[in-house]
Amino acid sequence: MHSSPAVRARGITKSFGEVIALDGIDLDVASGQVHGLVGPNGAGKTTLLGLLLGLAVADSGGLEILGTPVGRTLAVPDGVAGFVDGPGLYPSLTARQNLSALASLRRQESGGAAGVDDALEQVGLTDVADDRVRGFSLGMRQRLGLAAALLTKPRLLVLDEPANGLDPAGKQHVHRVITGLAEDGAAVVLSSHRMDDLAVLCSEVTILATGRVVFTGPVGRLAAESGELDYRLVTSDPEAARRLASQAPGLRVVPGRDLGPRADAADVVVRGPVTALDELVVRLVGAGVALRELGPVVAPLEAAFLALTGTAPTRADQEAPARTVPGRTDQEGTAMTGAGRQDAR
Ligand SMILES: Nc1ncnc2c1ncn2[C@@H]1O[C@H](COP(=O)(O)OP(=O)(O)OP(=O)(O)O)[C@@H](O)[C@H]1O
Ligand SMILES: [Mg+2]
Repeated sequence: MHSSPAVRARGITKSFGEVIALDGIDLDVASGQVHGLVGPNGAGKTTLLGLLLGLAVADSGGLEILGTPVGRTLAVPDGVAGFVDGPGLYPSLTARQNLSALASLRRQESGGAAGVDDALEQVGLTDVADDRVRGFSLGMRQRLGLAAALLTKPRLLVLDEPANGLDPAGKQHVHRVITGLAEDGAAVVLSSHRMDDLAVLCSEVTILATGRVVFTGPVGRLAAESGELDYRLVTSDPEAARRLASQAPGLRVVPGRDLGPRADAADVVVRGPVTALDELVVRLVGAGVALRELGPVVAPLEAAFLALTGTAPTRADQEAPARTVPGRTDQEGTAMTGAGRQDAR
């Protein structure tokens, strides 16, 4: 572990004309950490990652990368690699030629031809190493971009939606590469729209909403903060289940029409604390009603994300025809208390 954090950002702002893309961002990423950046479209993720890569300069605030303050010029310390908006590649060259060209520019660090082969292998592109990049799919380009970053043996790897376009095998390769780098002490900052991917990969996440941090901290704490959830139950006796749920103290039965397709095949959907849910299960079993399925309608991490970013669909969204929105309904006055807060660290 390096003694200084890989990223230390304080009060970063960045505007594009009238648009405030980043509005006082604090971010800490330790070496050896995979840190996820998540937020709705336009939240500022790519803009922030671009600053970490030296592709743009902040308007104000302090940014230290790998212990070095980043000044007002477009430059970041050695040891930083990655890409935003897709990797820059030569379409008329093959995958191997692309990496070899890069390796020859960085002969010291990249390990020559062996380094190129190793990088291709790590991202699972060995079989297409001699195909021209022009014919590569989105997922193959993403993986080649990651291979290019690997050649530089980064101490900070910055990736904008690296899982974009990846098939399941590609995703496994990319996950393994990212996890391996972190185990070797590198820091990885990546953005994603997939909370489930982030939960698997990241130790910490930062949630952005309209250029502000609305949560930063361990993934586990985010899940714990999701508060009261909607739970769907499937039982051996739907009618009895609905009756017992409506009588259960501390629980509210959520009308099926409020949940749309997400409540599919549930006998009943209830909202409330886990302790009240426990009591309902005891009552069901006591009444001879077998419980076949019980789970949150929306996964806790996703529920926390929707609440914190204010993107949970409203009832009006639900009633609009021909539009299905995955997520919770009836979220006004949500149980989340952390909205708009940046956790003190
Ligand atoms: N070069 C630019 N010129 C003008 N506006 C920009 C530019 N880059 C970003 N923006 C604006 O800054 C805001 C943040 O954009 P950014 O691309 O960082 O969001 P994002 O979180 O990456 O979104 P997405 O999930 O869609 O990738 C948006 O309002 C966007 O329109
Ligand atoms: Mg983006």
